Amino acid sequence: RSLRLDVVSIFPEYLAPLDLSLIGKARRDGLIDLHVHDLRDFAHDRHRTVDDSPYGGGAGMVMKPGPWSEALGHVLAQGSPPAEDHQPRVPTLIIPGPGGEPFTQQIARELSEEPWLAFACGRYEGIDERVYEWAGERMPVRVLSLGDYVLNGGEVAVLAMVEAVARLLPGVIGNVESLVEESHEDGLLEYPVYTKPAEWDGRAVPDVLLGGNHRAIAAWRREQRIQRTAQRRPDLLPPTAATSALSGLEER
Ligand code: ADE
Repeated sequence: RSLRLDVVSIFPEYLAPLDLSLIGKARRDGLIDLHVHDLRDFAHDRHRTVDDSPYGGGAGMVMKPGPWSEALGHVLAQGSPPAEDHQPRVPTLIIPGPGGEPFTQQIARELSEEPWLAFACGRYEGIDERVYEWAGERMPVRVLSLGDYVLNGGEVAVLAMVEAVARLLPGVIGNVESLVEESHEDGLLEYPVYTKPAEWDGRAVPDVLLGGNHRAIAAWRREQRIQRTAQRRPDLLPPTAATSALSGLEER
């Protein structure tokens, strides 16, 4: 099974990093089938215009609906012909934006189970609202935010989301165990890790890790995860657990 990805952007070169490293290998191995489209190819005036000033006034420019419906129509036309059940295959459309639902590991998992994802990269002050309606009548649409900060456009968000999704595909990461023992897979942050030398710069690796007592190591790591989560991401813990871990009540 391979995951088809379509990305529409006015900066197709921005997606070049997807040829590198793990994701590039997944493409060469046929696990990912990536197609990048230039939105300007769907603007038909002499200047290939994709934006215009906002109705009602205000700063910046808004992306015009026409090129977007044409580009997304072109993506939709790549779908396999209707099956016997007359259900045509359509992608789930992801529109990255700071006003979206937070993108999480849980959402990355959900998306990794789909056969086809399309990404619409907005720029400027955003895409004409009617494009969301138009798309929503033709395919599932999710507006997803990378976090509570503003990027210049959706491209960097797509790089992050595609990497988070692609590494969950069977065969992309050789060591499947490295996927489950990670931050955000079970609600706690990861424990600290160490490698040789056992002393470096006057700093020792915690004794418990050198001892080979696997139960003790597991208990230490669990405690570290709770402490670290309480310090850095108390929002991930139930309120009482967060306060007791921070005040050291977990220590005996
Ligand atoms: N585009 C602009 N800002 C963004 C964000 N925070 N997340 C996703 N896409 C964006």
